[in-house]
Amino acid sequence: MAETTQAPVAAVTGGAGGIGEATVKRLRDQGWQVAVLDLNADLAREVAERHGAVARETDLGDARSIEDAARWVESELGPCQGLAAVAAHLENPHMPEAQDYDEWEAILRVNLTGTFRSMTEFGRGMLERGSGSIVTIGSITAFNSSPLQAYGPTKAAILNMTRNFAVAWGRRGVRVNCVCPGPTRTPAVEASYARGERDPQTMIDQTALGRLVKPGQVASAIAFLLSEDAGAITGVELPVDAGTSATGLWGMYGGVAKLPTA
Ligand SMILES: NC(=O)c1ccc[n+]([C@@H]2O[C@H](COP(=O)([O-])OP(=O)(O)OC[C@H]3O[C@@H](n4cnc5c(N)ncnc54)[C@H](O)[C@@H]3O)[C@@H](O)[C@H]2O)c1
Repeated sequence: MAETTQAPVAAVTGGAGGIGEATVKRLRDQGWQVAVLDLNADLAREVAERHGAVARETDLGDARSIEDAARWVESELGPCQGLAAVAAHLENPHMPEAQDYDEWEAILRVNLTGTFRSMTEFGRGMLERGSGSIVTIGSITAFNSSPLQAYGPTKAAILNMTRNFAVAWGRRGVRVNCVCPGPTRTPAVEASYARGERDPQTMIDQTALGRLVKPGQVASAIAFLLSEDAGAITGVELPVDAGTSATGLWGMYGGVAKLPTA
């Protein structure tokens, strides 16, 4: 009898968003079965339909919702081998003294506690089976100061959590890595450029490559780290930022593009 191999299963939190959808698409292209988990249920269903995935409304701010989602993915698709923890509560720039504390709590609940709990709930089955891979999503704001007063610290904490989980679970068959996007042209970011809230050129000037990141380029890194091709990689943070985090002090000398080349 011919041996049948089941396609591996991955869950993508925030799968209805810009980077999330690109990740769903990339994983589907690479033969994964995918569950799209997102607070925006309508958009999650649309994304799932577009890419041949399944969808479930999930609130990373709610413990029960995450537990239910982890159980649902396994009952719907089978043992979950991969988790891309992409969802985040975003924030607009402001000064620390202007912090809205309801927003502070919401950002910590979703980005910090929600990411931690997603890893423990989806990791439970991976640990039982001795096999799995998790990719968290940090940000270049994790490496540098920024006016994202609550969001930035949660992203820095995600790097620390990633290393903690990677070491705790490494000998039990579960790899945990972090992808740190730089300025990425998602539909939401494009809309903020169109409204004049952000200036793409200011962001491009901060990159080494002189261009912004495409959602699919972040998705490629996530899919690679989830895959067996990255079987010897755990506990790393991989910037996908067009070289933004490498530009360091160039701004003090006029900026990357401003110096004469000869
Ligand atoms: N776009 C960028 O420039 C950029 C830069 C650095 C890091 N990131 C990170 O990349 C990831 C994806 O961001 P994006 O740019 O695609 O943003 P996005 O807003 O397009 O997607 C975020 C998704 O998360 C979902 N979400 C929000 N709160 C949720 C909750 N409580 N429960 C479940 N889902 C929830 C939203 O509905 C949305 O679909 C985030 O972790 C973000 O912090 C993005």
